[in-house]
Amino acid sequence: MTVQAPWALLAELTHGCPLRCGYCSNPVELIGRSRELAAGQWSDVFRQAADLGVVQTHLSGGEPLLRRDLSRIVAAADGSGLYTQLVTSGVGLSERRTAVLADAGLRSVQLSVQHADPRASERIAGARSFAAKERAARLIRASGLPFGLNIVLHRANLDALDDLIALGLSWGADRIELAHTQFHGWALGNRAALLPTREQVERARVSVARWRELLDGSMELVWVAPDWVDVTAKPCMGGWGAVSLTVAPDGTVLPCPAAAALPDLDPPNVREHPLAWIWRESKTFNAYRGESWMPDPCRSCALRTTDHGGCRCQAHALTGDAGRTDPACRHAPDHHLVRDLVQGPRDEPAYTYRKGGT
Ligand code: FES
Repeated sequence: MTVQAPWALLAELTHGCPLRCGYCSNPVELIGRSRELAAGQWSDVFRQAADLGVVQTHLSGGEPLLRRDLSRIVAAADGSGLYTQLVTSGVGLSERRTAVLADAGLRSVQLSVQHADPRASERIAGARSFAAKERAARLIRASGLPFGLNIVLHRANLDALDDLIALGLSWGADRIELAHTQFHGWALGNRAALLPTREQVERARVSVARWRELLDGSMELVWVAPDWVDVTAKPCMGGWGAVSLTVAPDGTVLPCPAAAALPDLDPPNVREHPLAWIWRESKTFNAYRGESWMPDPCRSCALRTTDHGGCRCQAHALTGDAGRTDPACRHAPDHHLVRDLVQGPRDEPAYTYRKGGT
């Protein structure tokens, strides 16, 4: 089959993070700081990615601001011709750092927030952080860089959606992305505490529609549909090995950030293989590419060209087999697993926090 060029690279610069969010989808076992790629190695990754066809990179983590050489990394990405976005908690952003990063070629910033109420936000993040986020929002706004606010939704903040959108407006965000928790990595262990009720999701959906009408296009409001409640498989990553790739802090290359948890995937590393070979030839990137791997009912379903068979990591998390039909889909033989969880009883929101990746 013809392999299309990727267009996006998620560069996980570090797993270190000052926050300890219960919904964190990074792996349970984090990659230590001593194993991180150096700035020069990232520079090589960006050059190879641009040659391969990538046009944009998200510099993420963990918290990328923990990298003292972040401006060198930004300059390398920009120098390779990539559109460079920083994905940050805002903790550690100063006026000087913002200016240095903008000078280095940073093109936009995505800031996360957990709740509109400072105490609730810090309870979810497991760390004092709200004042730093407020300050970061002011700095990003003042820099003139495009400013996106990223909110991961779950049971403890869905009912505060109106306040969260109002907060984004007051902080001057150009765009708010509302994405439901993905139950991968650390978040999987907190699923019982994070899972919202169907009623919460439906109320939030109505709120978003009302805000969209009110805002009339003056701010972009993105609602990433909750596949468990909508009983449709999401077109995860736009398809396996189809449009984007993730490079983990130690140089491991993955078709999606959560795929490190899949057994027998044996993901390749940029320290050992060229990125072009990894993308086109490696067993990892071809494992679920296209349609030939699909089981029934996917292989005969008209939706396979748009949902690409759903999420492989979710299929593995729920059934133990990444090759099964995504149980979020109402047609999946394992759909009862999702239905039982959505309809089941709810625990009080009490998370197990990460110990802190720093
Ligand atoms: Fe890995 Fe969906 S998160 S394929």
